[in-house]
Amino acid sequence: MELSRFGQRFARYSGIIELMDDLGDALSENPDLIFMGGGNPGRLPEVEALFQQRLDDIMADPNERHRLFGIYQSPQGDLPFRQDLARFLHQQFGWPVGPEHIAVANGSQSAFFVLYNLLAGEMADGSRRRIHLPLTPEYIGYRDQGMCDDFFSATRPTIDHLDDNLFKYRVNFDAMELGPEVAAACVSRPTNPSGNVLTDGEMEELDSRCRAAGIPLIVDGAYGLPFPGIVFEPATPLWNDNIVLALSLSKLGLPGVRTGILVAREEIIQAYTRANTIVSLACGTLGPLLARELFRTGEILDLSRNHVAPYYRHSANEAVEEFRRQLAGLPFHIHNPEGAIFLWLWFEGLPITSRELYQRLKQRGVLVVPGEHFFIGVEEDWPHQRECIRVSHAQPSDAVRKGIALIAEEVRAAYA
Ligand SMILES: Cc1ncc(COP(=O)(O)O)c(C=O)c1O
Repeated sequence: MELSRFGQRFARYSGIIELMDDLGDALSENPDLIFMGGGNPGRLPEVEALFQQRLDDIMADPNERHRLFGIYQSPQGDLPFRQDLARFLHQQFGWPVGPEHIAVANGSQSAFFVLYNLLAGEMADGSRRRIHLPLTPEYIGYRDQGMCDDFFSATRPTIDHLDDNLFKYRVNFDAMELGPEVAAACVSRPTNPSGNVLTDGEMEELDSRCRAAGIPLIVDGAYGLPFPGIVFEPATPLWNDNIVLALSLSKLGLPGVRTGILVAREEIIQAYTRANTIVSLACGTLGPLLARELFRTGEILDLSRNHVAPYYRHSANEAVEEFRRQLAGLPFHIHNPEGAIFLWLWFEGLPITSRELYQRLKQRGVLVVPGEHFFIGVEEDWPHQRECIRVSHAQPSDAVRKGIALIAEEVRAAYA
């Protein structure tokens, strides 16, 4: 079969596809594998019960049931849902947001695909523009989303060493250049994979640098503010008409529902909506129906602050303590766990690549993600890229503890 350029780009066997296939195969061959690799959220009984109740209410009401199964949502997303969400954002944060500033997506992943390719790539005048990542490592899922090569550029962060084997990445503003070839800047906050939360100061600086360059700042809040709020450090949610805020219901516990949300100025929402209509026609109705009530009542904040964030704060702290115990004496560093559902471990001077470590760990029965793939847009060779792994702490604590023991054994063996 001869494939088009698009086909060749999107059907090829890239590093990330290989890795995801490998994870899937490994799991089907050995279902007892300890799964510390993917971004699946943990199971929180109170949250599951709340969504179950809401689903029961929908199913018990013939009109709601019909809205769930029998009606296409408007391409931009159900209007009452957007109205309730806009009111919530306005009341809670004072943002000048109306339903016209909101669009629904079938998961934020697909929203990124449309948004990135609307803004960057080949321009009408034949020039090329890129998405700039002010702080790598960044989310692996961005990596292959561009319609052309060299779609991303990135700024290597500075590294602050903190006490007790912790470190923190910071945006290197001195090195960051937003020239005419940059279409937009994008950060995840908290960052997947490192669990870094960009400080309010860093966000303000990014905001003003993007404004000065005349480009939008895309903020990926998949784990962040205002929901699911998996943030353990003081941080203020930020939005204005130059910011595109991408949100998701996935990490609240609904990854199967595939609901993403964009909050942006009207011009961007309209362009996104048209493109998304061509690609998807309309988005799924389940997410908006399940969540609407939570926005109307403001209950989403209670859920995030009192259930979701504490679960992951606890699991992160436990995992850090366990790693410190198990890795004692080795040259390891853990990124300060400031949010999200992962720990990011850096084994300085590791004699094998993180990819080799990943292979060895898979043989031992624990799945992690090797760090190499997260350094998107970094052109220079930087050994740090091959010395890190991402480890999820979202699974039950017994499994996490066992996984950590296996990781520590293999790392110790690698240094020996
Ligand atoms: C940082 C980040 N952004 C976006 C996504 C996409 O999430 P979804 O498509 O489930 O909304 C993920 C998923 O893991 C993520 O980690």
